[in-house]
Amino acid sequence: MKRVNIGICGLGTVGSGTFNVLTRNQETISRRAGRDIQITHIGARRDNPASHTAGYNVSRDVFDVVRDPEVQIVVELIGGTSVAKDLVLEAIANGKHVVTANKALIALHGNEIFQAAEAKGVTVAFEAAVAGGIPVIKALREGLVANEVNWLAGIINGTGNFILTEMREKGRAFLDVLAEAQELGYAEADPTFDVEGIDAAHKLTILASIAYGVPLQFESVYTEGITQITQDDVQYAEELGYRIKHLGIAKRGQDGVEMRVHPTLVPEQRLLANVNGVLNAILVHGDAVGPTMYYGPGAGAEATASSVIADIVDVAREVDLAHPVPHLGYHRGAEGLKVLPM
Ligand code: HSE
Repeated sequence: MKRVNIGICGLGTVGSGTFNVLTRNQETISRRAGRDIQITHIGARRDNPASHTAGYNVSRDVFDVVRDPEVQIVVELIGGTSVAKDLVLEAIANGKHVVTANKALIALHGNEIFQAAEAKGVTVAFEAAVAGGIPVIKALREGLVANEVNWLAGIINGTGNFILTEMREKGRAFLDVLAEAQELGYAEADPTFDVEGIDAAHKLTILASIAYGVPLQFESVYTEGITQITQDDVQYAEELGYRIKHLGIAKRGQDGVEMRVHPTLVPEQRLLANVNGVLNAILVHGDAVGPTMYYGPGAGAEATASSVIADIVDVAREVDLAHPVPHLGYHRGAEGLKVLPM
């Protein structure tokens, strides 16, 4: 079996999860990939438990990983958009494939990154950037490839859904639940991204660009978070037969694609109303298939690692192929389809 060397940048929640799952299931993953997938390099800015890093080529400078000629796939899990962007662009410039879970990076800089990757003939894969462990990007890109997507709507921030669920089921206070989400490793480093809807808007930007073949346009998403939702709102909604869910919605109309993120009253008998806790769910309505739904953990170390590793396997299969088929940001050819301004 041909060997493929992986360099992981970042050993936070998702980085450690990826390291643990990839080392634990290495044989099975490699057999399925048809490649001997080996973590060889680790770049982590902070100290890490020795058990993590013993026996690996470890550097505190993540750029050492993208500069090492032995590394074939760089896995960017440092988060943020400044160092991560430089890191990914340098990896691409050095001819390396990239796997990332970084939704902010893709939503804000994906157009530039994909262009660089295309020019260099490498792949940038980002399944884990949307809805943690749910393979919704693969569903849109592969399983639903025959469909025109009429609309998609989903719960795409686990922290927000966890807060709304705990407020409704247990009457807990907003900030108390947010603190727990942070402890459990669900929340963003800056949790205002979760509760102000920014994280969901990043993810919706990515989903819409794939569903509709349009470039990433984060600034066109109407974005409203859940910080104004009170315990009274949650209880009144319940009395009227609704649940408040924070949804991301992308819809194709006659004039173009509309993208919005906001709290929504969902009738209590609907599937989306019954997606609780940190779980995410995305409904996608295709013109051929009709309504489909993708459900599962939207955050968490090993759930997100599951998607990161799915991308590693996809990309590893392409390494050194004579005619690789790089799967870039979005299917081209949506000329004439506009994204409507918010
Ligand atoms: N903070 C994010 C969430 C993590 O809660 O959904 C997964 O993207």
